[in-house]
Amino acid sequence: MTSGVATGSPPHSPVPAVRVGVLGAGVVGSQVIRLLTEQADELAARVGAKLELVGVAVRRPARHPDVPADLITTDAAGLAARDDIDVLVEVIGGIDPTKSFLLTALRRGAGVVTANKALLAEHGPELYAAADAAGADLYFEAAVAGAIPLIRPLRESLAGDRISRIMGIVNGTTNFILSAMTDTGAGYPEALAEATRLGYAEADPSADVDGFDAAAKAAIMASIGFHTRVGAADVHREGIAGVTAADIDAARRIGCTVKLLAICERVRVAGNAAAGDSYTEAVSARVHPVMIPQNHPLAVVDGAYNAVFVEAEAAGRLMFYGPGAGGAPTASAVLGDLVAVARNRIAGGRGPRESAYAALPIQPMGEVLSRYHISLDVDDRAGVLAVVAGAFAEAGVSLSTVRQEGRDADASLVVVTHSAPDAALAGTVARLAELDAVHRVTSVMRVMGELR
Ligand SMILES: NC(=O)c1ccc[n+]([C@@H]2O[C@H](COP(=O)([O-])OP(=O)(O)OC[C@H]3O[C@@H](n4cnc5c(N)ncnc54)[C@H](OP(=O)(O)O)[C@@H]3O)[C@@H](O)[C@H]2O)c1
Repeated sequence: MTSGVATGSPPHSPVPAVRVGVLGAGVVGSQVIRLLTEQADELAARVGAKLELVGVAVRRPARHPDVPADLITTDAAGLAARDDIDVLVEVIGGIDPTKSFLLTALRRGAGVVTANKALLAEHGPELYAAADAAGADLYFEAAVAGAIPLIRPLRESLAGDRISRIMGIVNGTTNFILSAMTDTGAGYPEALAEATRLGYAEADPSADVDGFDAAAKAAIMASIGFHTRVGAADVHREGIAGVTAADIDAARRIGCTVKLLAICERVRVAGNAAAGDSYTEAVSARVHPVMIPQNHPLAVVDGAYNAVFVEAEAAGRLMFYGPGAGGAPTASAVLGDLVAVARNRIAGGRGPRESAYAALPIQPMGEVLSRYHISLDVDDRAGVLAVVAGAFAEAGVSLSTVRQEGRDADASLVVVTHSAPDAALAGTVARLAELDAVHRVTSVMRVMGELR
């Protein structure tokens, strides 16, 4: 390929420019273009060469009067294929045809910077393979938690450590809705309507509220943290549409708040006894609502903010916090990647590749150890407690606390279990609902941390 960059040249030799193409000029892309233009001199000083914007692909050019007419095109495939482009920034989103644009650029050796979590979670290995084959960079800091530096800390800063857990709030829309439900007592439909009115939720909110967005991010975080290929389909996913005002109230009564968490853990599972392995390791990756104590650092992360907890064996507990979305914050992460890729090209090297050497198995959700908080409306008569406790005992689930509230015909029973396999707990909840003494199961949610 012909290139503006003298790849492989010594770091201090004069380099004319790193030529950049941008796919998309929407919420994120317009800010990438703005920062590239406004900070051109500073970026050049940091990179050691000018970052020259040579093309911008959009669908509807008339909507982008700020993009110079000589740069704009509707031919994204053509822009990705241009052999004078050193780095392609992709902020279009979606899987098809975006994947083919990235593959085209990577195969001809261009660096790629993308914010596309869905594409990486579904087709990461194919993109990495193309990058490896051509010796090209693939960077995606903006794909997880917007402006928050997380991918680089996981794959570079913590490369000498052993990560045991990555857990966080990685979707601002659902966090905004749950915060609104907590603050106002509103039900889910009202809080969703408010989020939509304020622009925090899309007209079709499914990617956020059904947990797809968080699951894609969990897949990326788990893949990097545990050196294992984890795809979106490997992540157990539950959204927030089933969270009720009763759940929020039940959480409050035990000093908790409800958050949608992405949880990625390195777990121990039974090993091959015949081979003398008492245990082996696996990866658990899941997204679901959780009751967490109000004094947990994640409990105070409100509204559209994101926060991710990383636990590593030597480093201990680290927390990353900040704006998880938005045009300028996300563009900040994209620009950081762009600078890194440009520097790599000038130095004649490349950044970290996919690291999937550990190839750990994925732990099925049914085997994940969970604690449940369950509220039940029951007959207010002697013996009901024993019947309910019996249902748990049958499944081998022990109870941590049982509280009875109310003295009318309808009493309510609040049960918190000890850790047990998720399948056993889910099965017990189903059985409870069938008991004559149980009128209604009013709230079921996993719970985490020390309860008061
Ligand atoms: N928005 C955020 O806060 C945020 C945060 C983190 C990550 N991301 C990720 O960043 C990416 C972009 O998000 P966004 O919010 O900026 O999206 P957006 O506002 O919808 O912008 C998408 C842009 O891509 C252009 N486009 C779409 N299909 C195209 C095609 N086939 N050919 C050429 N151009 C095409 C659109 O052109 P027109 O404008 O002409 O329609 C638009 O400029 C997504 O992967 C998203 O997940 C976004």
